[in-house]
Amino acid sequence: MLSRMSVVIAMVALLMVAAGVQAKGDSQRGQGLRYDCIECHGMDGKGNFETPEIAGLDEAYILEQLRNFYSRKRDSLDDMMHLYTEDRTDQDLQDLAAYWASMREQ
Ligand code: HEC
Repeated sequence: MLSRMSVVIAMVALLMVAAGVQAKGDSQRGQGLRYDCIECHGMDGKGNFETPEIAGLDEAYILEQLRNFYSRKRDSLDDMMHLYTEDRTDQDLQDLAAYWASMREQ
């Protein structure tokens, strides 16, 4: 018979697994959030003359940059990237990073 303690340990372990899954960016959800980005970075994420390409960059790199823009650790032209990240949750930033990183070169 399971002791009460082992049930508690099993539940804590399950919660930790669930939290770990949540911490990873969800590119499906990120796809739904991309509309704010495409006006400058383009539908394909390739950017334009004043906006860098973001499609296919490393997920961890994109996430780090988004967090840096959010906290203003990294500046951007006219503060643009801060304005487009300041209203977002960290989960949004993770999902956006996962989405743009998953976009392959055509
Ligand atoms: C109003 C135009 C504009 C919008 C909208 C915009 N960006 Fe940007 N983004 C820029 C510009 C300009 C830069 C270059 C910043 C700099 O270094 O001056 C940039 C830089 C970046 C970078 C850094 C790329 C690198 O190579 O380091 C990432 C990542 C990025 N944007 C992601 C996003 C995401 C995700 C969104 C949508 C939430 C978004 N951007 C919306 C204009 C925009």
